[in-house]
This record gives sequence, structure tokens and C-alpha cells, in this order.
Amino acid sequence: MSAHETYLLDRAVTENSHRLDTYRAAGGYETLEKVLKDPVEPKQVIEELKDSGLRGRGGAGFPTGLKLSFMPDVEKDPRPRYLAINADESEPGTCKDRVLMREDPHGLIEGILITCWAIRAKASYVYVRGEYRHEYDRVAQALEEARAAGLVGKNVLGTDFSCEIFMHKGAGAYICGEETGLMESLEGKRGHPRPKPPFPAGFGLWGSPTTVNNVETIFNVPFIIQRGAAWYRTMGTAKSPGNFLCGISGHVERPGVYEVPLGIPARQIIEEIAGGVWKGRELKAWIPGGSSTGLMPASTIDTPMDHDSLKEAGSMLGTGAIIALDETACVVRASEVIARFYDHESCGQCSQCREGTQWLYQVFSRIEHGHGRVEDVELLESLANGMAPGKTICALADAAAIPTHAVVRHFRDELLQHVELGRCPFDGNGGEGTATRREPAGASA
Ligand SMILES: Cc1cc2nc3c(=O)[nH]c(=O)nc-3n(C[C@H](O)[C@H](O)[C@H](O)COP(=O)(O)O)c2cc1C
Ligand code: SF4
Repeated sequence: MSAHETYLLDRAVTENSHRLDTYRAAGGYETLEKVLKDPVEPKQVIEELKDSGLRGRGGAGFPTGLKLSFMPDVEKDPRPRYLAINADESEPGTCKDRVLMREDPHGLIEGILITCWAIRAKASYVYVRGEYRHEYDRVAQALEEARAAGLVGKNVLGTDFSCEIFMHKGAGAYICGEETGLMESLEGKRGHPRPKPPFPAGFGLWGSPTTVNNVETIFNVPFIIQRGAAWYRTMGTAKSPGNFLCGISGHVERPGVYEVPLGIPARQIIEEIAGGVWKGRELKAWIPGGSSTGLMPASTIDTPMDHDSLKEAGSMLGTGAIIALDETACVVRASEVIARFYDHESCGQCSQCREGTQWLYQVFSRIEHGHGRVEDVELLESLANGMAPGKTICALADAAAIPTHAVVRHFRDELLQHVELGRCPFDGNGGEGTATRREPAGASA
């Protein structure tokens, strides 16, 4: 394996990495101190982030510096302003933010404080996936330590800058990871996404300017401010600089969360870093960035893991979470499981999504369970076309439509084989380790 520079997980491997003492011994909070005391002007922080080319790690890959620059000038807009941290991490396959929160919570807190300084926010909310109890406790404990040390709250490090950080537990709804659903939920309402515009920078939490960023995105901030945009750009590609945390799961020998540079070929992650396909089997398919990015055939694993290359290949980097399927897995079964997830998680506000996700699940289900028709393949495509892109309030509908298009494009023969045989050729085996079977939905619909 070729060696590459790392920084995201370097501290995480030390003993007691979650404690303030350990963090400070490794130079933690020195960047915050420099920013506040030197001081580095808020606009300068944003410019550095812009120059670095950092792109959001929550799925859409939006340039972070640019997003922060959308916040209105504090002189012209006196409303309070907020930073919301998206720690909902519910996209199937994604498990990277959890490592950062559990092993290096002070890194996240320092990132939050510097970002709040940059956007002139005096409060931040960390919205944590409900199932992440241990991670929630780790961040809460770190916050207590930071508060006691004068790093959070009034007059941070004795300066004029005051900043509170509040934590909030989700309750197991994927839709609360969508940024406007998250804000509704934080406000105590049902997590229904809001139509955009208005965008959060103009009308966010409680109607005030708000920026929503992913945990890993904000975790990058102190490194960039300390080491500079030019250093950041020595890793990754010109349009997708830096390293990212790749969570790899499924049929590989060593599933886990690995730090790799953007642009690394997926083959290197699957075959070298994750130890190759398990049990000496062949790779059949892989998902590049969480379930919404769709199944790709094994022949595409030389695709570089960056935003542009994966887009060109007809997929997305998403959350950078690879799922590998070996030759014994059934892609129709995998699609049924994925469709069931989006059907269950649709909030129901838009008819295209509410009905479309249900239909996708029913059609995949009946094909998998031996009741499919040849026309179902076209039906899947036409349903997906009716749902996305841009036809609904949020992108959950896209998240269900994209994997549908992908399986029809790359695995049409396997769909038709199910129909012709009147059963799953893999004996209903979604591949060892995939979700438990359950009764088909609407098998005769
Ligand atoms: C249905 C849905 C679920 C999402 N879930 C998450 C999530 O769990 N975590 C996350 O960071 N972003 C999630 N996002 C993306 C957020 O809406 C938003 O783009 C992101 O938090 C912005 O942060 P970033 O710019 O740092 O990537 C989701 C989007 C959609 C449409
Ligand atoms: S697209 Fe789906 S999840 Fe998003 S707002 Fe509409 S119904 Fe709800």
C-alpha cells in the first residue's frame, strides 16, 4: 500500500484520545487561541477555507468556505446567527462521524469554535443521531471539560468572544439529517424538510441566519487554519482536495473506517486497505458513497474516489462509505433492502416521494420474490424519473431514485433473470451479512 499523509485519525489512536489533557498535549486548542488572540479576522478564516477547496462531507460536497460566506454581514443583519452540526449520520453504510465524536471530540469542538468565530455565531447546536449514545456522551463529556477550562461559554480563553455549544439527541429518523428537517427537529417540531428558498443562511434556526455542516467537515477546519490552504491542497485532487474518512463495509476482509486521500482508486481501498473481498471470493458490485449513490459493477472499481470522477461514472462520492457485495450476493435483494429503507424514511410531504418510494419497494420486492413482470424494469425507471431530480422538497426522493437507475443500468440482466425464472437465482440470498429476510411487500400489486 502506498503511504499517504494522514491527519484526521492521527490523534484518535492514542490512549485517552477523547480527554482534554491528551488533546492539549497534542497541540489542541492552540489554533483557536491563535485565531482569537492574534487575531485572525473572521473573513480571513473564511478565505482560507475557500482557498483550501474543502468540500462538505455530509453528502453533497458543497464548498465549505463558500457556504460560510453566504452568512449575511453582521453589521447589516443584527439577528442572532447559528452553526448547526449535522451528526445525524443515518445514510446506510456511513459510520465515520461516529469515530471522530467518540475518539476525538475536542477536535470537533475546536472546529465548531473556529467556525462560529468565522460566521460570528454565539451558539452552535450539535444534532446527534439518537442511536449514538456513546458518542453523544463522549462529546457531552468533552464539552464539560472545555467549559470548565474556559474554552466554551462566556469570554472564550479570556477574549471578547463568547460561544455556547448545545447538544441535541435525534430520535432515529433519517430525514432529520436533511439540513432543514434537522432545523425543524431542533426547534421541537416534526422533522419535515422546508422548501428552499429561503436557504438556511437567510432563514435558518428560529428564522435566523444558520449554517449547517457535517461533523467531518468541521473537524477539518482547525487543521486548515493551522497548516494553511496550500498544505491542504497537497492531498487529494485539484477539485476535491484533502483526505476523507472512508467507511467500508460489506463483503471485505477488514471492514472499518480508514483515512485516505480524495481521488484514491476504489480498488486500492477494497483490495489493499480493506484486505480484499472476503473468503477469497470475487467482487460483484460496490456502492461508492452510502446507499443513495447506487450499485456499480465490479468492472468500475478503478474509479477514483472524488466528486468529479464518480459523477462522471454515473454515481456520487456521497458520504464516502463503500459497501462491497461479493459474487454470491443478489443485487435485486440489495435493491429491495435499500428501497425499503427509503420508503420507511420518507416523511410523506411530497406525493412523488411518498408514493414513489413505496412503489419502488413493492416492485423490487415482487421481482425478488418471484412475482415480477418483464415490464417492471421499465416501470422502475419511469417511477424513478417521476421522483427526481428536483421534483420534491428535499433530496430523499433522489436518494431512492439514483440507486434504482443504477441497478437498471448496470444489472438489467439480473432483474430479467429473476422475472424469467420466477424466483431469485441466488436462492433469495442477499449475500451473507445482509439484512434479514422478511415477507415481500405488495407481491401481487
Ligand atoms: C435525506 C437526507 C439525509 C441527510 N442526512 C445527513 C446526515 O445524516 N448527515 C449529514 O452530515 N448530512 C446529511 N444530509 C445532507 C445535509 O442536508 C447537508 O447537506 C449537510 O449536512 C451539509 O453539511 P456539509 O456541507 O458539511 O456536507 C442529508 C441529506 C438528505 C437529503
Ligand atoms: S422528498 Fe420525501 S422526504 Fe423529502 S420532503 Fe418530500 S416527502 Fe419528505
